[in-house]
Amino acid sequence: MPTKTPAPLHAIERASRDEISALQLNRMQWSLAHAYANVAHYKAAFDANGVHPSDLKTLADLAKFPFTTKHDLRANYPFGMFAVPRQQITRIHASSGTTGKPTVVGYTKNDIDTWADLMARSIRASGGEPGDIVHVAYGYGLFTGGLGAHYGVERLGCTVIPMSGGQSEKQIQLITDFKPDIIMVTPTYCLALAEEFAKQGLDPAASSLKIGIFGAEPWTHAMRLDIEKRMGIDAVDIYGLSEVMGPGVANECIESKDGPVIWEDHFYPEIVDPDTGDVLPDGSEGELVFTSLSKEAMPVIRYRTRDLTRLLPPTSRSMRRMAKITGRSDDMMIIRGVNVFPTQIEELILKQPELAPHYLCEITRPLHLDELTVRVEVAPEHAGVGAESRSRAADTLAHRMKELIGVTAKIELVAPGGIERSLGKAKRVVDKRSK
Ligand code: DLL
Repeated sequence: MPTKTPAPLHAIERASRDEISALQLNRMQWSLAHAYANVAHYKAAFDANGVHPSDLKTLADLAKFPFTTKHDLRANYPFGMFAVPRQQITRIHASSGTTGKPTVVGYTKNDIDTWADLMARSIRASGGEPGDIVHVAYGYGLFTGGLGAHYGVERLGCTVIPMSGGQSEKQIQLITDFKPDIIMVTPTYCLALAEEFAKQGLDPAASSLKIGIFGAEPWTHAMRLDIEKRMGIDAVDIYGLSEVMGPGVANECIESKDGPVIWEDHFYPEIVDPDTGDVLPDGSEGELVFTSLSKEAMPVIRYRTRDLTRLLPPTSRSMRRMAKITGRSDDMMIIRGVNVFPTQIEELILKQPELAPHYLCEITRPLHLDELTVRVEVAPEHAGVGAESRSRAADTLAHRMKELIGVTAKIELVAPGGIERSLGKAKRVVDKRSK
C-alpha cells in the first residue's frame, strides 16, 4: 500500500492576521452589498436602521448593522431570503425545527463548491488524508450533515461510504467489512454504535476506525474522553449550522483538540451579549453571531445562532477558535431561577463510572415551583448492583448538581437501554410545564 500524504494546508490557513482581516473586509463589503441589492428583507432592515452597505469602512462597523434571526428566515419562508434567481439554486436543505415550518436554505453551484472545500479542509484538520475511507453516519436528506460531509470527503480525495443514520446493525457490519479510517457521526449516535458493537460481541476499540468527526449537537470534553476510550479513536469537534452553511463552519485540529477553528475567510464571527446585543471582546462568553462572506444564494448578515461560546486566539491555524459550545440558549433550563445546561449535567454524569452518558432532563411544575428530574442510565457493568449502591450513585449526582450547578434535582436511575437512543441529534430536555 502506498503511504498516505497529508493534503497541503491552504495558504489562508497560515496567513497573517492582517491578510485575513483585509480579505474579510473586502468580502464583507461585497456580502452586505449583495444582500442589500438582492434580498428585500435586508434592504428593509438596513433602511429601517439607517445603514447602507457603503457605511462599512472597517470590520468593526459591522456592529451598526441589524441582526438576522431564525424568525426572519421563517417569515420569508420558503425562498424569500434568496439573493439569486431560483434557477441558480442548485440545492435546497432545511432544518426541521421543533414546531412549525422548517428553515429553508439554498446554495448556488459556487456555494456547494465552497462548502466541499471547507468540509475537505475540516476533514484534513481532523487528521484525514487523501486515500482514507470515511464512513458517513450523519443523516442524508434535508439535514445538512450527510451530504455536507459527503462532498467534503470526495473533495479531499477519500473514499466515502454514504451510510446515513440508523440501521445500527448494518453500520457495524459495514465498519467491520469495509474497514473505514474515519467516522463522521453525532457523538450520541456514536455511543449507540459502540453499544451495537458490544451487542454483536465485538470490541469497538478494536475496529479499523482511528478518527471520529463529531458534531451537530453539544458534547462535553468529558464525553470526548469517554468516546475516545470506548472507541479507541481521536474524537474531533466539527461545528456548523444550516443557516450559515451546514457542517464545516468550524473544525477542530487533531494536533491541538482545543476547540473548532472558525474558517474566518468565509464566516465572520462575533460574540454578543444575548440580552443587549452588544458586541463583547474576544474571550467573553456570549452568543455566537455569523456574517457570511462569500455565500451567493443566501447571504446571512449578523445571524444570531443562539449558541453560547467564546472566541479564542489562534493556535494550530491562523484563524480564531471557538470554545466548545456550552449549549443553545433554547436548551437552557431555568430551574427556580438557576440557569442550567444539559452539558453541565453531562459532565457530572461522566464523573461517575457507575452511570452511562445516556440521560434526559424533565422539567415539571407540580405546585407552582419548577422541578427537575434527571433520568440517567446505570452503566451496563453496574447493572446488577443492589438498590443501596444505586441510591448512593443517585445521591452523589444529586449532591454534585446542588453543589456545582446550584440546582436541586431528583435523580431517577434507569436500566441500560432505558433512555431512547437517537439516530442523530439527541433530545436532552423535555419541558412539561404548562406555558
Ligand atoms: O447540525 C450541521 C452539522 C452537521 C454540524 C453535522 C456538524 C456536523 P443544524 O441542524 O442547522 O445543522 O443545527 C445547527 O446544531 O446551531 C448548534 O446548536 C448545534 N451544533 C452543531 N455542531 C455543534 C457542535 C447542523 N460541534 C445547530 N457542538 C447549531 C455543539 C453543535 N453544538
